[in-house]
Amino acid sequence: NRKKNEKLEMYFKMHVDAARFFFRNLKDYKEIRDYFYKRGITDQTIRSFGLGFALNSWDSLLKYLKSMNYKEDDIVRCGLATKNEKGKVYDRFRNRIIFPVFDVRGRVIAFGARVMDDSKPKYLNSPETPIYNKGTHLYGLNFARKNSKEKSLIIVEGYMDCISLNQAGVKNVVASLGTALTKMQARLLKRNSEEVYISYDADNAGQAATVRGLDILSAEGIDVKVVQIPKGKDPDDYIRAEGVEKFHELLSHALPLIDYKILKAKDGLNIGEDQGRIHYAKRVVSILNNLDPIEKDVYVQKVSEDTGISESALMSLMKGDEEAVRIMDT
Ligand code: UTP
Ligand code: MN
Ligand code: MN
Ligand code: MN
Ligand code: MN
Repeated sequence: NRKKNEKLEMYFKMHVDAARFFFRNLKDYKEIRDYFYKRGITDQTIRSFGLGFALNSWDSLLKYLKSMNYKEDDIVRCGLATKNEKGKVYDRFRNRIIFPVFDVRGRVIAFGARVMDDSKPKYLNSPETPIYNKGTHLYGLNFARKNSKEKSLIIVEGYMDCISLNQAGVKNVVASLGTALTKMQARLLKRNSEEVYISYDADNAGQAATVRGLDILSAEGIDVKVVQIPKGKDPDDYIRAEGVEKFHELLSHALPLIDYKILKAKDGLNIGEDQGRIHYAKRVVSILNNLDPIEKDVYVQKVSEDTGISESALMSLMKGDEEAVRIMDT
């Protein structure tokens, strides 16, 4: 067990050494620094988030880590290098911008690495390793805990969203890093906030992830609201184009869970037509069914105003009144 802990400590140290190596590479490459500047990222932010660059080389990190007496097997185990079928070992991250991933104590536990053009995949990430289990972490939580007194946390998708918001002064931000939010991440959010704003990309992937994320968060009993970014943008795009004041405005207009679901229920329906309205009313009723009577009352009123369907019809539809269903179907 003590052996095992020493090994893990060595893995943490290897990650810091790798992060330092990537960071130092920036000094020699003005064009890489320019990439950050073009995206509005300052030197100060590069330093705070430990951003870096993986050289366009098959073994620069490998050589460096070996020169620091790390063993090839350990480097591969940490996912910093890959071993192919022929037994050849080479750097995982090549010619990419580097984002160190920190745990809540601020230790480097993994890396994300972005191409600087349109090639695919856009990001390469560390695999699961003895010190990195992706679904149990939230990128940026160490910074949010240190730098923010807010009771709420904003969850975004990407590295750049988190960094860009931080730079703009919005410090209560964490990123789920693309993939669907896990139960563990939801619990982490709950432990560290009283309220969560989901601010995912306004693209199809982001909206689908929002719907899934909402259910996971509300299942953990988290008070959750949805930030609505204009179509096609993500929080980084938005704050750079519109500024931090406008982002705060978006936060203040964030939709509570039910309102968001009711809004979503309109997707693909034409509320201007009878059939669309009827279909919408049924979807809404199935959303409202689980609410308490007071909430039901409030939302039934809203939906009635919105659709022109009477409150009493909606109420009886909600009671599962077959007659109401039949009447509204015709
Ligand atoms: P996005 O495609 O929205 O990228 O993926 P982004 O964060 O806005 O990045 P920029 O602004 O183009 O630089 C959101 C997140 O999903 C993960 C990354 O964590 C990314 O930040 N992702 C995305 C991957 O892991 N791999 C990919 O190929 C793409
Ligand atoms: Mn993660
Ligand atoms: Mn996206
Ligand atoms: Mn994005
Ligand atoms: Mn982006």
